[in-house]
Amino acid sequence: MVNSKDCKMTAGGHIPFRMEDFTPEEVATRARATLERWNARRSVRFFQDTPVSVEIIDALIATAGTAPSGANKQPWTFCAVSDPDLKRRIREAAEAEEKAFYSGRAPKAWLEDLAPIGTDWEKPFLETAPWLIVVFKHVQDVRPDGEIRKNYYVSESVGIACGLLIAAIHEAGLATLTHTPSPMNFLQELLHRPAHEKPYLLLPVGYAASDATVPDITRKALDEIRVAFPPRG
Ligand SMILES: Cc1cc2nc3c(=O)[nH]c(=O)nc-3n(C[C@H](O)[C@H](O)[C@H](O)COP(=O)(O)O)c2cc1C
Repeated sequence: MVNSKDCKMTAGGHIPFRMEDFTPEEVATRARATLERWNARRSVRFFQDTPVSVEIIDALIATAGTAPSGANKQPWTFCAVSDPDLKRRIREAAEAEEKAFYSGRAPKAWLEDLAPIGTDWEKPFLETAPWLIVVFKHVQDVRPDGEIRKNYYVSESVGIACGLLIAAIHEAGLATLTHTPSPMNFLQELLHRPAHEKPYLLLPVGYAASDATVPDITRKALDEIRVAFPPRG
């Protein structure tokens, strides 16, 4: 392994870090395989009610907790809900918000953008999926002694953690949906979260229904999302 000239010890102490050394060919194979696996990821809105163990859900959440975060503040809480009565109450509250959204609150352009996805106010998956993971972001850092400190890049950090959560769910062979009932404040109350935690995303997790369908939509091509320096011919 080549040591970097830029590697400096700083206050606080560092520990050695080693990664497995892969050849460039192995890296290329791994990168292609990752793309292939990830191209198969879709947002799923139809679930089986087949149970998923609490150990599996804990492993998925622990993976999300490995995310980088601004100043290592880890400004997130993941509520794992499998209680049928609580799922029903979350569904009722979400559908009340979604009904208001789809029948007037949403701007016309937003509804036009949503049309190809085919969503409406009804959210049966909030009860069918065996688990709901509700993610909260910590807008402030409240220490055990009550001292309040700033958190940094909270939305970026929690967004990355949710990306890792979605990745872990997909890699495990389960399905999920990034769901954002708008507004989501009811989740803070139903899940008894403190004032400095704000609801961020709601992810149903489970096996996809055997007859699940997904919108027939396309992803942007690499040329549309990547700008190369120097330019490619
Ligand atoms: C921040 C965010 C919020 C979303 N909110 C919803 C939602 O409330 N309901 C829903 O059905 N899909 C929601 N989606 C899923 C998108 O519709 C979906 O990711 C997009 O159509 C692309 O489809 P794919 O995930 O299958 O590739 C959301 C996605 C993101 C990233």
